[in-house]
Amino acid sequence: MAAEIIAITQQKGGVGKSTIAMHLGAAFHEKKKRVLVVDADGQNTLIHWSSAASDGASGIPFPVVNLSEAGGQIHREIKKFVNDYDIIVVDCPPSITEKVSGVVLLAASVAVIPTSSSPADYWSSVGLVKLVQQAQVMNEDLRAVFLLNKTEEKRMLTRELKVALEELGFPLLKTQIPTRECYKQAMALGVTVLQMSDRGSRLAATEIRAVADEILDMLS
Ligand SMILES: Nc1ncnc2c1ncn2[C@@H]1O[C@H](COP(=O)(O)OP(=O)(O)O)[C@@H](O)[C@H]1O
Ligand SMILES: [Mg+2]
Repeated sequence: MAAEIIAITQQKGGVGKSTIAMHLGAAFHEKKKRVLVVDADGQNTLIHWSSAASDGASGIPFPVVNLSEAGGQIHREIKKFVNDYDIIVVDCPPSITEKVSGVVLLAASVAVIPTSSSPADYWSSVGLVKLVQQAQVMNEDLRAVFLLNKTEEKRMLTRELKVALEELGFPLLKTQIPTRECYKQAMALGVTVLQMSDRGSRLAATEIRAVADEILDMLS
């Protein structure tokens, strides 16, 4: 069966697209899925990340490919891999004016839209929702979900924001990803939190696995 394509996309930078793309890849890999992670962003965060492990460290245990040069043809490049993998996670660039996110969405089964609780993220989600809805005209199988990232402990997300996000038309995943220092460490070390053993990383790994389970449920 052809791979399911999962697009991690948001208009804004810094919301955690790359962090979530790499960690979902790791969680699916751990579940014995054949995973490919695609870096579609010219910043190449994932390419740097996957080559950051020092000699001897095990690093990222699944392939990460750089398709950031493919531009509006990226869906054709991704299709070359679909028979060799179960899941392809695509880290999309922040801009929705370029063609990249739009064409990836034409091929995707699921769009994951990371957002924090900041109003700026909410506003940029509005543009992204339109892009997803345009893609859904051609790609009826595409489903989209919001994923709250960088939530603060003790500060509950206001009910208003949850309602506002859901009113944009897509559900919010039940699992939220809190702000945890280990994500930056993982990136610097060229690993994911699933390979780290401090308390924060273990909590983070549990959350990431729960997000991956929710997404797998959507695909089944
Ligand atoms: N849940 C989180 N907790 C702490 N830091 C995070 C979290 N998610 C992302 N970050 C950090 O925020 C910065 C931006 O994340 P990144 O994944 O590169 O965002 P994007 O790809 O959307 O630009 C990075 O330094 C990353 O380590
Ligand atoms: Mg990024």
